[in-house]
Amino acid sequence: MQSFLQFNPTKLWFGKGQIEQLTKELGTPGKKVLLVFGGGSIKNNGVYEAVKQQLDHMQAEVYEMSGVEPNPRLTTVKKGIELCREHGIELILAVGGGSVIDCAKAISVGVYYEGDVWDIITRKAVPAKALPFGTVLTIAATGSEMNNISVITHWDKNEKRGWSSSLAYPAFSILDPEFTYSVPLDQTVYGIVDMMSHVLEQYFHLTENTPMMDRFMESVLLTVIEAAPKLLENLHSYEHRATIMYAGTTAFNGLLSSGTDGGDWASHQIEHGLSAVYDIPHGGGLAIIYPNWMRHCAEADPSRMKKLAMAVFGVDGAGKTDHEIAYEGIEALRQFWNSLGAPNCLADYNISDARLEELIHKSFMKEQVGSYKIMTRDTVREILTNSL
Ligand code: NZQ
Ligand code: ZN
Repeated sequence: MQSFLQFNPTKLWFGKGQIEQLTKELGTPGKKVLLVFGGGSIKNNGVYEAVKQQLDHMQAEVYEMSGVEPNPRLTTVKKGIELCREHGIELILAVGGGSVIDCAKAISVGVYYEGDVWDIITRKAVPAKALPFGTVLTIAATGSEMNNISVITHWDKNEKRGWSSSLAYPAFSILDPEFTYSVPLDQTVYGIVDMMSHVLEQYFHLTENTPMMDRFMESVLLTVIEAAPKLLENLHSYEHRATIMYAGTTAFNGLLSSGTDGGDWASHQIEHGLSAVYDIPHGGGLAIIYPNWMRHCAEADPSRMKKLAMAVFGVDGAGKTDHEIAYEGIEALRQFWNSLGAPNCLADYNISDARLEELIHKSFMKEQVGSYKIMTRDTVREILTNSL
């Protein structure tokens, strides 16, 4: 196990009716708040009214910015920065999923940065100050509600970039599983694939002697595998929405990688290239890429995939080689995602090899892609080709 600092300043309010805590979080009456949200789902499912009620109760001066895109765009971030500056905003409140929250994170640091906020997103500049922001989560997926990561797309350049900063943790996040009842089936599945991928990315690390972390991760995966099919049968089940929602947060709030090298993340890099070019849902892209990444890595060293196969997918190792056990586990993962309705190959999104070289190029927005196994352009080409 490596030495580590465990630090997460986000205050998490979880459960039915927790939206009432928003008044507490606003603190003083009359605050100038920028309410950031997406394409309008919150207006159809009652979340907007629930939030507005609390804001009105505290006589907040509310400005709204709607229309944050799934895979949020730099242009929208810039719009938010202008609104904050124009109205002297004191708190940003992101109401939505990872896209809305990631956009709010970039706005909060961009407000105080005199240059182009893209400099921060591309890690050329380090933010020195941020506007406080809180979140009301409406979809279980990214963990953005309790981490310091944000992913923004520069659509004109077809570049999707992740950045992080100690200033980018939400001050508070309110998670009411009932707010996720209206998430449609496909988005629910994408969220489940994304949170499982976050655990898997961290599971494939090179640090020795990490039994606590390994079992934490296995337990999150086992819990999601148990709850997900039940949730899909009843999208209004409080019990299963709650389990999945907390799993999504736990999957990527720093807990699981304390004491490890942080894990691999190559599949996320490759997927970000895919959604930068084709604007596909992040979880959909991962469902296609991840098993192919695993297969590629298992060829050289199946040990970690074997461990996963036996601990999480119940593969019986008797009389089998390590490779056989590993491949059986990978197939079980693929089949599980397919059974939920996740896509299987790029053709499911009508993506051919026409822009393959561009996709490879977009995967290398960071100097190094992967750490459990460092990718080359050829290995990314192989994974993408196997994903067609
Ligand atoms: O736009 P609205 O109306 O909000 O609709 C959204 C959107 O269409 C809808 N939705 C959300 N809550 C809903 C709902 N529909 C009905 N009822 C509700 N309660 O779902 C769609 C997807 O929303 P989005 O926010 O895009 O989903 P998600 O949370 O999966 O976020 C995806 C983005 O986060 C990035 C991804 O790359 C992608 O850009 N990621 C962020 C990470 C982070 N910050 O830590 C890590 C991840 O790996 C990921 O890269
Ligand atoms: Zn992800």
